[in-house]
Amino acid sequence: MYDIEALIFNGGAGGEVYRARARGAPPDAPRVAVKVPRPAKGNELAALRREIDLLRAVNGCKYIVQMLGAYDVTDADGNTMPYLVMEHSDGADLIRTLITRSERRARANPSPMPQLMSDEEARVATWRVLKALQFLHDETKICHRDVKADNILLVRLLSEADCDRHGLPRLWAGVGDARSAKLADFGHSRLNIGSSPLTSHIGTACYNAPELVKMKSGVAGADHYKGKPVDMWAAGVTVLSMLAEYTPFLVKAADDSAASKQQSMLATYRNILNYQGLSAVDCARLAQRPAAAVALVNALLSIQPDARPSASQALQSAWFSGMTDDE
Ligand SMILES: Nc1ncnc2c1ncn2[C@@H]1O[C@H](COP(=O)(O)OP(=O)(O)OP(=O)(O)O)[C@@H](O)[C@H]1O
Ligand SMILES: [Mg+2]
Repeated sequence: MYDIEALIFNGGAGGEVYRARARGAPPDAPRVAVKVPRPAKGNELAALRREIDLLRAVNGCKYIVQMLGAYDVTDADGNTMPYLVMEHSDGADLIRTLITRSERRARANPSPMPQLMSDEEARVATWRVLKALQFLHDETKICHRDVKADNILLVRLLSEADCDRHGLPRLWAGVGDARSAKLADFGHSRLNIGSSPLTSHIGTACYNAPELVKMKSGVAGADHYKGKPVDMWAAGVTVLSMLAEYTPFLVKAADDSAASKQQSMLATYRNILNYQGLSAVDCARLAQRPAAAVALVNALLSIQPDARPSASQALQSAWFSGMTDDE
């Protein structure tokens, strides 16, 4: 039914992702992305089945990557596996886009140095992520639980004309357009009716909210968390990473060994638990950004989960004044 063209992603928690083209479609037809679990990984299989069910429930929201179909395919060894077919995002994910822009900027060494993400691009991307979370939390009662720059896909590429039109440096032509951001990867998501407390250890360390880190670390009394505020914290980390051009809280592993990875995770957790508000370094990095954007980041990164704005409240931020559902 689809011809695989290239491997896009070589297996995270959910499996492998390929770029493919519908069989018989013209060469310039839009591509699709196909997510497939690896045969030996039973957990990937279960996660992908769950993801397919949830994507079915959220299909139609324009701020979420669309599922085009799901199929069970039986291979020569008799293994039946689910295939998830999605709209293909030409612009890769947000983290890859930030890295590519940073590499291009370093190579070109332009003066003045453009921001990796202009205020306006970051504003639209943030709005779209919050709209996706509003839809999930309020309409479908789903908590995403893995909001991060890697799971925000940019469906369009910037052309030189787009760059000129939006006042962006031509250096970004051919790279993802953050104005087309969509939330993806529902492999960790969960239906959370009535905001009942959750207990499973999920998410990516540097995007984990303090209450989740406390639970993971076995802190007395911290044996559950609420899903929606965990998503809002992770959205705050994502926005801060766009505006301040670094990944907050992350302590990178020195090498690929299990011991280094464990050390990096614990050091990252320590940073999150020690967080007392934006640091002087953060503030310096954000000095040129709109005050309303910084206020929103501060609110999303409230240490107390109940103090964080809901997605609907965050969308009322002064940073978004004048924005409409057409964005
Ligand atoms: N529809 C798509 N179009 C283009 N690229 C995609 C698409 N879906 C996923 N990708 C790429 O594949 C990567 C992994 O996809 P996804 O996040 O869904 O899988 P995962 O295995 O759950 O990942 P992880 O466990 O690392 O979060 C994404 O970060 C993105 O770069
Ligand atoms: Mg992912």
